[in-house]
Amino acid sequence: MAENIVWHHHKIGRAERSLNKQQRPCLLWFTGLSGSGKSTIANALDVALHQRGYHTFLLDGDNVRHGLCRDLGFSDADRVENIRRIGEVSKLFADAGLIVLSAFISPFRSDRRMVRNLFPAGEFIEVFMDTPLTVCEARDPKGLYEKARSGEIKDFTGIDSPYEAPERPEVRLDTSECSVDDCVDQLVDYLLQQGLIS
Ligand code: PPS
Repeated sequence: MAENIVWHHHKIGRAERSLNKQQRPCLLWFTGLSGSGKSTIANALDVALHQRGYHTFLLDGDNVRHGLCRDLGFSDADRVENIRRIGEVSKLFADAGLIVLSAFISPFRSDRRMVRNLFPAGEFIEVFMDTPLTVCEARDPKGLYEKARSGEIKDFTGIDSPYEAPERPEVRLDTSECSVDDCVDQLVDYLLQQGLIS
């Protein structure tokens, strides 16, 4: 960080912005392999919450890499910077009072912990998309696993780049066992139980 930078405390904070609303700001962080269902479930939850009148925002790996993170590739260092930026952007949206849904492979535990530490206790919800690699590879929706196996793509998560599974995620979903609707119901129930929506 540059020197001579001073933090300005705003008069309207996160708590004031969510006063009298039926929702509390939080971040649902979807992590998992390519093809594990992160975007599908995050999108479906986004729709379900929106239809119930909640104010949400969805950040998604492929899309963010078209803009904010277009200068980043898939080396370990670039993935670390990718998640750092997304974590900060997610925090800004939560500060604005929204329920934020972020869907990124985010393969490293230390990066996910770093994002968790940006949030008050209970407002970071790690959603582990625990769909087995064999299922993700069989789905191969973008043909990327095939390219990774043939060596056309390097540093592909789960093939020649590591994925560190969460140890204590708030929610674990396996889309090879659970339908989209059931996954969404589980997440809505979690938010209700935690008092993040009412
Ligand atoms: S990361 O690891 O969190 O920084 O990745 P993320 O920003 O979520 O981007 C993942 C999407 O990029 C595509 N893609 C790759 N993924 C993994 N490894 C390599 N080498 C790679 N190259 C391109 C892929 O479409 C990922 O999207 P999802 O939705 O996960 O399939």
